[in-house]
Amino acid sequence: MVEKQLWHPVAASREVRDAPLACTLLGEPLVLWREPGHGGDRVHAWADRCPHRGARLSLGRVLSGVRGARLECPYHGWQFGGEGRCQHVPAAPDFVPPAGHAAQMFEACERHGLVWVRLAAPESALAPVLAEPPLFAPGGEAGWRVVLCGPYEVATSAPRLVENFLDLSHFGFVHEGWLGERGHAQVRTGVVEEGAAGLAVRDAQAWQPRAYAGAEQGAWIAYRYEVQHPYAAVLRKDAANGDPVSNAIALFIRPDAHERCTAWFVMATLGDASSDRDLLAFQDTVFAQDRPVVESQTPRALPIGRTAPVTEVHGPADRVSSAYRRYLNRLGITLGTT
Ligand code: FES
Ligand SMILES: [Fe+2]
Repeated sequence: MVEKQLWHPVAASREVRDAPLACTLLGEPLVLWREPGHGGDRVHAWADRCPHRGARLSLGRVLSGVRGARLECPYHGWQFGGEGRCQHVPAAPDFVPPAGHAAQMFEACERHGLVWVRLAAPESALAPVLAEPPLFAPGGEAGWRVVLCGPYEVATSAPRLVENFLDLSHFGFVHEGWLGERGHAQVRTGVVEEGAAGLAVRDAQAWQPRAYAGAEQGAWIAYRYEVQHPYAAVLRKDAANGDPVSNAIALFIRPDAHERCTAWFVMATLGDASSDRDLLAFQDTVFAQDRPVVESQTPRALPIGRTAPVTEVHGPADRVSSAYRRYLNRLGITLGTT
């Protein structure tokens, strides 16, 4: 399954503190825990199953001591060090556990305020999701502020949500008065570039009544998009009229099942005077507008012609969504598609 070879976000970094946290990725129950260290913390993602008698490690606790942090199983108290190996069996304290007495470990890292996990080594060069998308480089430009929004648990497939994120032509209806107006519903789809690593869109434009918090009048706003992962996308919009306001928003999604997913938005903003709380409230409002519509779409899996002929028709403003569907087909993505 190609999806297992990709990095996926599983939880916000701030949720993983001094206690183990359970989560599930692609049907695999995981325990996340944080190991404090001198050179910085390290986050671990292990199978949520003790190799001794199969209890859930996420019900245990994180111990810290002079010999480093350990994850303690809730059942017989076996202690596992950061390398996964059992270090201590309390019922037989002189026993030296062999190497095979170890938890199953997966690759884990932190990026953009989220914990990312990869369940299997890649068999070929796949989407470089952990590379910084060029549109989303708040660290590389001074003055950007970053706010993590979510998680949003959504009753639809991850690809439906990505496609909604790439779609300008719903603004005048779903986000009327916010991101669009039905009297100004026409969009310009811009230039779509498709390559092996994904797609990029530049010069897409929509008319917006209030493109950002401080805007006083409507304007055509140019959007750029990048998709370098089947379940993630980044947009960037810069204010018109020379206003020094820019926003970059990344959508990162954990595919929980064929028709269910959990999303986070990382908003990076430059020059917007809104407070973090206002930015969060704005994103919550916009997503609350999207949710009933995207959850109403049938089928919930995105029709890309994989198992059945595509039964959706397209208009001229759907070029980006068609390019996204072709990209999923090229990658061989099955989870969330049909
Ligand atoms: S089941 Fe984990 S220590 Fe026994
Ligand atoms: Fe929307």
